[in-house]
Amino acid sequence: MNIADLASTARALVAKGKGILAADESAPTIGKRFKAIGVPSTEESRRAYRQLLFATEGMEQFISGVILFDETIRQRADDGRPFARVLADRGVIPGIKVDTGAKPLAGFAGEKVTEGLDGLRDRLAEYRDMGARFAKWRAVIAIGDGIPSRACIGANAHALARYASLCQEAGLVPIVEPEVLMDGSHTIERCAQVTGGTLRAVYGQLYGQGVDLQGTLLKPNMVLSGKECPDQASVDEVAAATLECLRQAVPASVPGIVFLSGGQSSELATAHLNAMNALGDQPWELSFSYGRALQEHALKAWGGNAENGSAAQQALRHRAECNGAARSGSYTEAMEAAV
Ligand code: 13P
Repeated sequence: MNIADLASTARALVAKGKGILAADESAPTIGKRFKAIGVPSTEESRRAYRQLLFATEGMEQFISGVILFDETIRQRADDGRPFARVLADRGVIPGIKVDTGAKPLAGFAGEKVTEGLDGLRDRLAEYRDMGARFAKWRAVIAIGDGIPSRACIGANAHALARYASLCQEAGLVPIVEPEVLMDGSHTIERCAQVTGGTLRAVYGQLYGQGVDLQGTLLKPNMVLSGKECPDQASVDEVAAATLECLRQAVPASVPGIVFLSGGQSSELATAHLNAMNALGDQPWELSFSYGRALQEHALKAWGGNAENGSAAQQALRHRAECNGAARSGSYTEAMEAAV
């Protein structure tokens, strides 16, 4: 591994005004998204949709990188270029999801551990040959009665560190994603406690496995009230609680923090990022790596109909631009009214 190259890719992914588009939905997940808009999920419909997203004019002003799924990195645009090449040609860094999903954790009902370490070294080498320069691995931590357990946090943190180390060996920047889910009726304080504990465990394991943090990015959840909590924290409270939690747990050598949206509305995910960046400089760049919060409106506008392509691209570009503005705390509600 050349740590200078990894660090420079990590910094490019969190360049000012830009963030990451997560388009790495697995076949079952994209199937769910397509079902919601009445579109059958086939290899061709998935290819057509991703081609549409990646052809969005001007996207590169606000999108530094795109995370692909295994099927997608093997697919080509109509002009014959592989998608990773399409992205790289316009200055967008291709990335790849490399975990194989969160599976039930034996002995711990209701908890999951993310799999995908077996054979990972060979898969990473193949993905790098196909043009990927960064990778993603998502661990899932649920909050509930008596959970998360130490066992769940420990197993996931260890797997994340093993993955990150293999990525650096292969010359890929690992995005380390421990997602504490927003499902449930827990308070924002409980989310802060679990997120803080998870992040401390993850950084302990990354240290233990010898991962160079300068060549990594963190993709955490924001600290939020549970979706069903009657007392929903305000945008400013979420911003303050998230920053407090991150400052206690994330070393300053990490170049950037790229939040997931996790089921927040597109507009709220932007407002939260904006509020954090409005609080002034932090030890790390604060950016986005949104899936749903970038694609929700574009998917709806598309509806599986090629004729709606430019409306879908406009919707994606608009959300990318709003989040680009949120990188510097200069997003305003008036930007939403503009469309
Ligand atoms: P969401 O922004 O939809 O949570 O997706 C981000 C992601 O990549 C989850 O792994």
